[in-house]
Amino acid sequence: MIQIKKCDELLKKTPSKSDYSEVISEDCVFYKEGKAVGLYIRLSKKELLGIRKAALTTKLQKSSRTRGLPTQSSVFGSLPRIARRNDFCRYSAKTKEERENNDLIFGFSKRLLEIYQEHLPSNLERDKQVIDESVEMDYRIQKDSPFLTANINVNHAIKYHRDTGNFKGNLSNVLILRHGIAGGELVFPEYGFALSQDDGFLAIFDGQTEIHGVMPIIKTDDNPYRASIVYYSLEQMKHCYPYKEEVERLQQKATERAIKRKDH
Ligand SMILES: [Fe+2]
Repeated sequence: MIQIKKCDELLKKTPSKSDYSEVISEDCVFYKEGKAVGLYIRLSKKELLGIRKAALTTKLQKSSRTRGLPTQSSVFGSLPRIARRNDFCRYSAKTKEERENNDLIFGFSKRLLEIYQEHLPSNLERDKQVIDESVEMDYRIQKDSPFLTANINVNHAIKYHRDTGNFKGNLSNVLILRHGIAGGELVFPEYGFALSQDDGFLAIFDGQTEIHGVMPIIKTDDNPYRASIVYYSLEQMKHCYPYKEEVERLQQKATERAIKRKDH
């Protein structure tokens, strides 16, 4: 993988065919300066049965939170404090409301770990160490996994961007499940190639460094869908206290506000 040009002027723009000359549609490992930095691999239909069920049955919510862009999505796993709205670290509402889908999603992340182990072992080692050092065990659905949170996003073509908010250096993990859809290639304009993002492909890449975006999606069949399942860990999770202390902190803050009101 050799960078052929800088493309910062493309940020927030819709990808176009002229941004790439090659579409990759088979398994490959990406190397940069002799080091493995990513992976593109097709998984079998059979090993995707569970996660496909989760993607097709989850109740999606309109949200403007995901990377600052509007999307339809479900969030599973751990979330950091959000001042005023949800000022404590916790598991997402979906984690409890859709217990079965949550188990399917984090069940698949075991396969993700095996894939890292086989193709990107030093990345896994590093990511695990970062999470072990900075995130309390209460927020780790799987004790040996560096992925704290997972999103299901549906029918969503995202413009050129870099991922933000994840632990620095951790790779982005995107699994595509789709049917009756054309387009939707994942374009890396600085390198002049796109990933086909066919059904069942998992892409692992440095989304915080490399600009990427999704080609417009065209429906070609009656019941079309395109789901991307993304595994990640938000850096803000490093500020979380153990859950019990998070709840105490929230109560403490409520008390302080009550006292303030009384004084005025
Ligand atoms: Fe991204």
